[in-house]
Amino acid sequence: MQAMTGPLRSHLDPEFVLLLDDVRARLTTLFQAPPDHFTFALSGTGTTGMDAAAANLLEPGMMVLCVVNGYFGDRLAQVCALHGAFVERLEGEWGQAIDPAQVERVMSDGRFDVVAIVHGETSTGVINPVGEVAAIARQHDALLIVDAVTSLGAVPVDVAAWNADACYSCSQKGIGAPSGLAPITFSARLRHRRAGTPPFSLDVKKLEDFWVRRRYHHTISAPMIYALHAALTEAAEEGLEARWKRHADAHSALVAGLDAIGLCLLPALAHRLHSLNAVCVPDGVDASEVKDCMLTRHQIEIGAGLGPLAGKIWRIGLMGSGATIHNAEKVVTALAKSLGRTPLSR
Ligand SMILES: Cc1ncc(COP(=O)(O)O)c(C=O)c1O
Repeated sequence: MQAMTGPLRSHLDPEFVLLLDDVRARLTTLFQAPPDHFTFALSGTGTTGMDAAAANLLEPGMMVLCVVNGYFGDRLAQVCALHGAFVERLEGEWGQAIDPAQVERVMSDGRFDVVAIVHGETSTGVINPVGEVAAIARQHDALLIVDAVTSLGAVPVDVAAWNADACYSCSQKGIGAPSGLAPITFSARLRHRRAGTPPFSLDVKKLEDFWVRRRYHHTISAPMIYALHAALTEAAEEGLEARWKRHADAHSALVAGLDAIGLCLLPALAHRLHSLNAVCVPDGVDASEVKDCMLTRHQIEIGAGLGPLAGKIWRIGLMGSGATIHNAEKVVTALAKSLGRTPLSR
């Protein structure tokens, strides 16, 4: 918030463009993207990133396999279809990670040009096995779109190892800045293909002209860049490994505390996304009453279940600077009070 009070420089101001270069470098590190990827921050939110990935990669008639095991996988499938692709939805159970063997089976006849997958599925608290799915996509020479909206900055995202052609995120989750920018990275092979007919505002070629060659494209918001830069500087000072560990530790503290008051998480142990915890609502409890009580009595906002999980889970975010053991314990204490429970003696 302090960073956002800096002077309102223009988008081509000589000092401001140096900041843009630094944002690019720091995002490249965070995404673990190769140097020949074009990594930058789109003006917009995670959804803008999704649109930009699809618009720059897809052409009418392309065959896309989209993993759908949650609300955002469904949105990704819808967005790919809007950009003219023929989308086959690989449906998985909400609350479970997709089984790579399922991906292997449907990909075996080589008919897909693109694979699209959400890494951290915010609606279910599940982390999908992107590494394994990416290897299958590579075997079949398919392009890869990865949604890293809830994973970037919180858990390892490895664009180089995945060889992802488009991977996008947001500023407001694992990075811990306000919403308003969508960090994104595009592979060299995608940029050289010149596919799709992206709208002017999302055209990767034109955006590269702005970010790299300093040609006017749009008037990016200076305060948003200041905020993102400050958050990325904090992330760099902390270090990637330490940051991932902090998120893992906060998650473990939450799980232990929930266990002590008799609550459990929806996803199996191996598939849990540290930054977003999907907690099962006990039988007979009104999920929205507890959610309201958490906000009004304890000033803690937790999320409701979406789609088929409405009323069945709460979603507790521990991300960015909020991912601390202290916060995890505070949430558990407030949840115990809201439910009228005390820690079980073990
Ligand atoms: C996995 C995932 N993808 C996409 C989005 C959309 O991001 P935004 O709300 O920033 O547009 C979200 C939002 O929570 C998300 O969790």
